[in-house]
Amino acid sequence: MTSILARYRQQLRNTLGDWFPRTTLFLKGEPPIKGETKPRSRKKAEPAPSLKPKTASKGPEREQSTVQPSAATPSPTALYGPAFTVKRSQEQRMKMRVEQAVAQGIIQPPSPEQWKMILARAPATRIFAGAGSGKTTTLVLRVVFMLCHLEIPREQLTVISFTKASCEELRAQLKRVLAFWEAPLNDEAARELVRTFHSALAQLARTELRATQWFEQLSTQSKGEDEPDNGMLAGATLNEGQRQLLIQAYENCYREDAGFRRRVHLLLELAAPNEEEPPGAPPLQPFVLNGERQPQPLPDLFYGQASFAETLGLRIGSIKSSQLECSTRDLIFLEAMQQFWRHFGRLLKEQRLITFNTAFAVLTDRLEKKPSRTLIACLQPFTHLLIDEFQDISPQIALWLQQVQRRLAEEKVAPSLMAIGDDWQSIYGWRGSSPELFIHFDRWFPGQTPSQTLMLGTNYRSSPDIVADGERILTQVRHKQPKKTQAFRMADDQGHGVKVVPQFDIARQLTSLLGEIEAQRSYAAEREQPERCAVMVMSRLNAPLKAINEQLGRQPGVRTCTIHRAKGLQAEVAIVLDDGQPQQPHPLRNALYAASGHFQQSYDAAMADEALRLSYVAVTRGVSRVLWYTRQPRGAAAILAG
Ligand SMILES: Nc1ncnc2c1ncn2[C@@H]1O[C@H](COP(=O)(O)OP(=O)(O)OP(=O)(O)O)[C@@H](O)[C@H]1O
Ligand SMILES: [Mg+2]
Repeated sequence: MTSILARYRQQLRNTLGDWFPRTTLFLKGEPPIKGETKPRSRKKAEPAPSLKPKTASKGPEREQSTVQPSAATPSPTALYGPAFTVKRSQEQRMKMRVEQAVAQGIIQPPSPEQWKMILARAPATRIFAGAGSGKTTTLVLRVVFMLCHLEIPREQLTVISFTKASCEELRAQLKRVLAFWEAPLNDEAARELVRTFHSALAQLARTELRATQWFEQLSTQSKGEDEPDNGMLAGATLNEGQRQLLIQAYENCYREDAGFRRRVHLLLELAAPNEEEPPGAPPLQPFVLNGERQPQPLPDLFYGQASFAETLGLRIGSIKSSQLECSTRDLIFLEAMQQFWRHFGRLLKEQRLITFNTAFAVLTDRLEKKPSRTLIACLQPFTHLLIDEFQDISPQIALWLQQVQRRLAEEKVAPSLMAIGDDWQSIYGWRGSSPELFIHFDRWFPGQTPSQTLMLGTNYRSSPDIVADGERILTQVRHKQPKKTQAFRMADDQGHGVKVVPQFDIARQLTSLLGEIEAQRSYAAEREQPERCAVMVMSRLNAPLKAINEQLGRQPGVRTCTIHRAKGLQAEVAIVLDDGQPQQPHPLRNALYAASGHFQQSYDAAMADEALRLSYVAVTRGVSRVLWYTRQPRGAAAILAG
């Protein structure tokens, strides 16, 4: 009897939740909808993170095995208001068209949880979608529903995806599906609708900032007109044009600033500069910064660390070195970096160049203070935002987004935000992004009511063994959103979960690896429904991939790429080459993390989690088999081998 009642109550709750999400949320004492945040008391509300850098937290690090829901309390500075008004007839028409599209083989039938995402009504929605759960596929149908049935003008909607390549893929899918809905999308409209963060920023910067070229796109081939890719993807090595500018700024700083000269000599353990004579050429020998794997010349290191700090939302000139907890050597480095950064900024200005970070910061400031009517008018496409791979967002971009949608809310245009991602796949922390922003979504993007959280729990890509092994790796990630995934595919005799191959040394065993790749390619070719990519060989570093490519050449169906580039892709067989390098503590980055005031974790703890998440991303690319080569099982490999 009790269970019948409980089931009836649950059903009623679900139905109410679907049809009256706001009202349901406010029903006192009502348990949250599955995966949804329960409002806490008003007193405990945490303010949205401030733009201004905070001082270092001196308290002990707060670690926890799983993450508590964010403080999702009605906020006086709410960005999001009432739910979308959705008529029953609009939903019914969408369902009918989807049925027809399925019948014609245009799309796969959405699952009930995918339907919740397609028809979501809350203005701020967070979708936790595990690897291969169909988030990109469902995102397309959500856009169709918004454009074709809710009749939201296309000019008010932007879809953000992580890379230029994933944007291209989304555009192609949208064009195909919208054509079926008789709402054709031409190339230009598709380019405007789907963008990377950096291309969206570039669109605003074009009208608002006078800079003509991006420093990040400075190269001999590009004239800076290409659609900007995500800045996080930029390689670790700078090109010649960029290095020349950095060295020029370094020379200017060394020539003009005695304090800088002194610090550089201290860092490089050189005799104090002779101030009786005019300064000569600045020393460029490599410097070892604690936590960095490679010694590098100072200008390169200054650029790397300053860019990282800016991505955390810090302003380099405002960092108070006296409040950072790190060694004297690191503090001297930081102060020299601050001096260098001023000269670098000046040089960029003279050359009418700008970095993406500066553009984000300047536009955030203008939006926060008193933006011109022209700038406000340019915000229209960001009224309704759908952001894929949200787990890799940085504080700096989140602060910019906050201001964009805050302005729109003040203009009474009722903005909306759908954040789609998988915190388990967040792998750009080393560049300044963090899954904490996705996990504590409501602190960053507060609404009058808590955001709606939806889970997609079915993995359509991988075998049950692979899904289970992926989750095993995740058990040791300290900061994460708990979720459970079920494999859609059946177990099959020929496949297997992760097979760890220990004591592997690529220098000595390259030939046997090439033989294995060939054997796996034959296996994939014989599958009933062969995958477009038969074998994907992944590594954290480029060097082993280069060695393989030199021997293997181009082989149809075989792809070699870094794990970061493999995101969103899949192959019948995934082969992972694990370098097994232990992580090093990075005291300067720990101090910058604390100074930003945005994170519960230290940088080192975040990187330990990230190493496991990177392994999870690699493993979950495999459809039916995963092979893991390692010299010595460490981290994820040790978990899997154990
Ligand atoms: N409802 C469904 N029925 C059958 N197959 C589906 C369904 N939804 C998605 N798929 C398939 O699952 C695979 C993964 O989909 P998709 O790439 O959209 O997932 P994702 O969550 O974006 O993956 P990733 O986490 O790697 O980015 C695709 O081959 C897609 O066609
Ligand atoms: Mg995807």
